[in-house]
Amino acid sequence: MKILLSGIRGFVGARLAERLRARGHEVVGITRAGGSGIGWDERALVAAARGAGAIVHLAGENLFDGRWNDARKQALRASRVDTTALLARVAAGAGVPALVCASAIGYYGTSDARGLNERSPQGSGFLAELCAAWEAAAAPARAAGVRTCHVRIGVVLAPQGGALKNMLPPFRVGLGAPLGSGKQWVSWVHRDDLCDLIAHLVESTSASGVFNATAPEPVDMRALSKALGKAIGRPVFLPNVPGFVLKTMLGEVADVLLTGQHVLPERALADGFRFAYPTLDAALTDLFARREQLVSSEVNR
Ligand SMILES: NC(=O)c1ccc[n+]([C@@H]2O[C@H](COP(=O)([O-])OP(=O)(O)OC[C@H]3O[C@@H](n4cnc5c(N)ncnc54)[C@H](OP(=O)(O)O)[C@@H]3O)[C@@H](O)[C@H]2O)c1
Repeated sequence: MKILLSGIRGFVGARLAERLRARGHEVVGITRAGGSGIGWDERALVAAARGAGAIVHLAGENLFDGRWNDARKQALRASRVDTTALLARVAAGAGVPALVCASAIGYYGTSDARGLNERSPQGSGFLAELCAAWEAAAAPARAAGVRTCHVRIGVVLAPQGGALKNMLPPFRVGLGAPLGSGKQWVSWVHRDDLCDLIAHLVESTSASGVFNATAPEPVDMRALSKALGKAIGRPVFLPNVPGFVLKTMLGEVADVLLTGQHVLPERALADGFRFAYPTLDAALTDLFARREQLVSSEVNR
């Protein structure tokens, strides 16, 4: 089927496009970059969307690029809420049957509570409010009968971007350490499992509503740090990085790293989706075995 994909040049979107094409779909990018993609002009989007089977919306200013001052919060909000409203109108206007939008587990706020699922209430704080507004913005699509899914994404793992790209440099030189208390939950997901869950929702004829995209076995920050050190052959022995250091460096966004969430993918599992990497060891073994092979084949070339 033809699929319009925003965020196609991003960390998740680039990989998703590859995997959708491998499943036989035609993928057309929505991007600010020009080239062969479509821009954000509503009429051009409606024209491009005619005959499409789905729109997948991943675009949004990066949440971890810079401190959350008022201007940055406004940019984070507008790049998600306004674009979602626009694509919801496009889906409705062009008769696209499905809209699959990114959201984040930040919806639940941060807490020590175990087993948050899709029925858990909205938390408090900027990120929770942002996620709620992001999801609500798809209302025009829902009202027009477009099958609409919101994928509440956890911490996406792949060395090319996201959390691992930031964590890896100190770990590679033996200076890796857990952040904060080390006891906070990290609800992670292998990037390929996230992409395959999105593909599953696109190809479904019945799935709609909220789906948590997190592996079935969240871990705490200490376990993530240990497993990462093991996967790259650099044992972790340094003391934790104190929370106040991160807060001084990053501001409000540090709270997301210092107090996590324990989130379960109940609806994905109930809908028949199977995670290829349900445990952290399986995910990191795959991600780093593959990467180290690539690096060594480049060195030997
Ligand atoms: N990575 C994670 O761990 C994670 C976790 C939870 C939720 N998510 C969500 O999942 C989605 C994809 O994540 P990602 O890591 O792939 O993000 P990413 O690498 O930062 O890419 C996002 C894309 O959004 C587009 N974009 C950025 N600012 C924009 C703006 N002002 N207006 C319109 N488009 C804009 C860019 O595309 P162009 O430059 O081509 O326009 C960019 O490639 C995001 O919405 C993110 O919040 C990600």
